[in-house]
Amino acid sequence: MEQRIIDKLKEIKTPYYLYDRTIIENNAETLLGHFERCGAKIFFAAKANTALYILDIIKSQKLGAEVVSPGEIFVCLKAGFTPKQILYNNIARKASDVMYAIRKGVLFYNFEAIDQALVLEQCAKRLRKKIKVFARINPGIFPNTHPHLSTGAPSSKFGMEINQLSEIVKVIKHFKYAEFVGLHSHIGSQILSSTPFVKGVQKVSDSIGYLKSHQIAVEYVNLGGGFGVPYHPDEKPLNFRPIISACEKLAKAHGVKIFLEPGRFIVSNAGYIISEVISIKKRKGMPLYILDAGMTENPRPALYKAYHHIEPLLKKTGSKKKTRIAGPLCENTDEFGIYHLPELRIGDRVLIHNCGAYTRTMASNYNGRLLPPEYVIVKKGLRMIRKKQRFSSLIDNEVY
Ligand SMILES: Cc1ncc(COP(=O)(O)O)c(C=O)c1O
Repeated sequence: MEQRIIDKLKEIKTPYYLYDRTIIENNAETLLGHFERCGAKIFFAAKANTALYILDIIKSQKLGAEVVSPGEIFVCLKAGFTPKQILYNNIARKASDVMYAIRKGVLFYNFEAIDQALVLEQCAKRLRKKIKVFARINPGIFPNTHPHLSTGAPSSKFGMEINQLSEIVKVIKHFKYAEFVGLHSHIGSQILSSTPFVKGVQKVSDSIGYLKSHQIAVEYVNLGGGFGVPYHPDEKPLNFRPIISACEKLAKAHGVKIFLEPGRFIVSNAGYIISEVISIKKRKGMPLYILDAGMTENPRPALYKAYHHIEPLLKKTGSKKKTRIAGPLCENTDEFGIYHLPELRIGDRVLIHNCGAYTRTMASNYNGRLLPPEYVIVKKGLRMIRKKQRFSSLIDNEVY
């Protein structure tokens, strides 16, 4: 990070989120470059980060958006995505959610159960609008990531089992307003090995074969997201080559257009939380630093035991020691973990890495804490993109 930026970061009240515009642009360009040869269209999984300014950067890279709720549709439309650039997925939706999306002009939907296929058809019929739909299959693959993130595993609640393909064929043959356009599969998140992706593509390919043998045309395949990023300095980046060649083969073999919906890969390493040490104690002889940011700003360590690299914002001399770092919330799970750090003092600032994805979108007001402000590093310096929340928002909408 440039010194002129660090000088500014020293002046802003902690905690706050910080993003780097150039890193987001580079990540998007990297993915577009990787999948250019197979002509894939990329939709950013908005659940990773819904800040309007971040969505605007992503939109300007010519990506679409993948959403899971009317709320995310609302935000993506506000950010300037057109309804045709939006894919609306979810495990289950009420008719009112689907009607909202159709009224807004959203074109692409998935279904993950036969009853959900019927909801899509009924809503489209009520509004006399044509929509394009994907059937999400669960390929039954262990993606080698945290169990909470293994959405393609056989027991996961997501998608339909491959042995339900005959039921899928039956239901889509009755569609009049919904048009079946292809299969969807998302095997999980934060996957750092290419093998599960390649296996997933094979399962999708077999399923397309089944559909074709039942005279069902398949125009698109949505292979989901899940591309992992190194959180720990010892982790190696994902090798995309086998995934790209599996996608190319799939596109050629079946004449299908490929969609992808990555979130984390585009924004995770472009985001940080800047926090300050506010208390110091010892546990079993080990220093324990309490920060002014915790599970309300970044719930990932508490939810997934996720590691987020932490380093002092300003260079510190002195030998490094095993150090425990925790947040300030009234919860035992509010811990970042154990790090090797030089001695810190109260008021010292730290940089928590990889906070661009699934942090501000998972943040909460637990313990009456206010959502922190957000800043972006742009060419000219720093730009504020969200103010700190006010106390009044803690009682918004209450009837008292
Ligand atoms: C259906 C679907 N698509 C895409 C994503 C984005 O995943 P990631 O951020 O790991 O790329 C998710 C997140 O888990 C998802 O559930």
